Amino acid sequence: MLTDELIGELGRYLDDAGAPAISLPPRAYTHPELYELERSQIFGRSWVLVGHASQLAEPGDYLALTVAGEPVLVTRERDGTAHALAPICRHRNMPLVEPGSGHTDAFTCRYHLWRYGLDGRLLGATFMRENTAFDPSACRLPAFAVEEWHGFVFVNLDRDAEPLAPHLGRAEEEMANYGLDSLVQVASWQEEWRVNWKLAVENAHENYHAMGLHPTTVALITPRGGGDMDVRTDSPWATRLRGPFKEPMEPGVLPLRDEQRAFMDNYCVFPSGSIATFADSIVWISFVPLSIDRTEVRGGVLLPPALLDGADTEALRKEHEASAATVNGEDRDGLEAVQRTIGSRFTGRGHLSTKEPGVLAFYRGLAQALARPKEKDTG
Ligand code: FES
Ligand SMILES: [Fe+2]
Repeated sequence: MLTDELIGELGRYLDDAGAPAISLPPRAYTHPELYELERSQIFGRSWVLVGHASQLAEPGDYLALTVAGEPVLVTRERDGTAHALAPICRHRNMPLVEPGSGHTDAFTCRYHLWRYGLDGRLLGATFMRENTAFDPSACRLPAFAVEEWHGFVFVNLDRDAEPLAPHLGRAEEEMANYGLDSLVQVASWQEEWRVNWKLAVENAHENYHAMGLHPTTVALITPRGGGDMDVRTDSPWATRLRGPFKEPMEPGVLPLRDEQRAFMDNYCVFPSGSIATFADSIVWISFVPLSIDRTEVRGGVLLPPALLDGADTEALRKEHEASAATVNGEDRDGLEAVQRTIGSRFTGRGHLSTKEPGVLAFYRGLAQALARPKEKDTG
């Protein structure tokens, strides 16, 4: 079977002695069976970065999105607890909310007006009393796992997933001087790219492309070719990519170490989330598959409160959203072009540069995740 062949091929990235420094087989981006496997084996049981806690600041705030075809709703309850739920009505499967964000006390199904609380419990079901087979107290929305790590909100569709935080211990230690919990999200975005999610993620694992796709933006702050990237694997879920800035950043408001001004540290959470340090700011980004050839790009910029004293936050938001839109647009334009050719008979597996060790690290993560024993059927 084609998928077995593909997975066998991917397994070669795990070969310590002779792992090939070549790109993925092009079919890996277009093969529907592989995508189905990714849905269950990867997005069905991995921590996916979906937002920042400030997007769920008040009780009743919610975020709704789709993770590889699964509708996901993240809510903030009155007691401060975050819940991740499947927003699919238990009556006849009407979606309870459209992707986006908002604020509400309860979710009322627009079909026959059943109502659900912020924790997914059924609050009321119209004209159901006479059906004695129906037990409203047993009726609730399926729950997923949700974890907030220093303000970053992660969801795992496997509600029994092992916690994420223990995997981020080194990242936590290294970023302690950022005071992550006190950083303020000044800008955020969601956009849709017409690409397979892996094209977006592998692109984010190298700076080699800055001179090609970002000549007037990212290339101005990175050495030509992206410089030498150091890859450190902290766990199967956490990898740090460290790449140099062209010049060390000027001293700013945070008590950073010299290396934190000389290098960008990109803490990647497999499969598709990353938290990257840019001296006095942090940018997070997450590539969430919508389908085999569409990916939602979610992200935000965090700044220390000292940089916000007396600042015009609306102007800051516009400025950061505009520069993110420019850089994202450059990536999107390039990657959508790759996506348009990836189904050609004349594509191939290319040799990678020594500037792309991060890409190989991502391929290893992919191979490992697909090789893990199959998910139990949780029904
Ligand atoms: S489908 Fe939701 S109330 Fe009927
Ligand atoms: Fe880029």
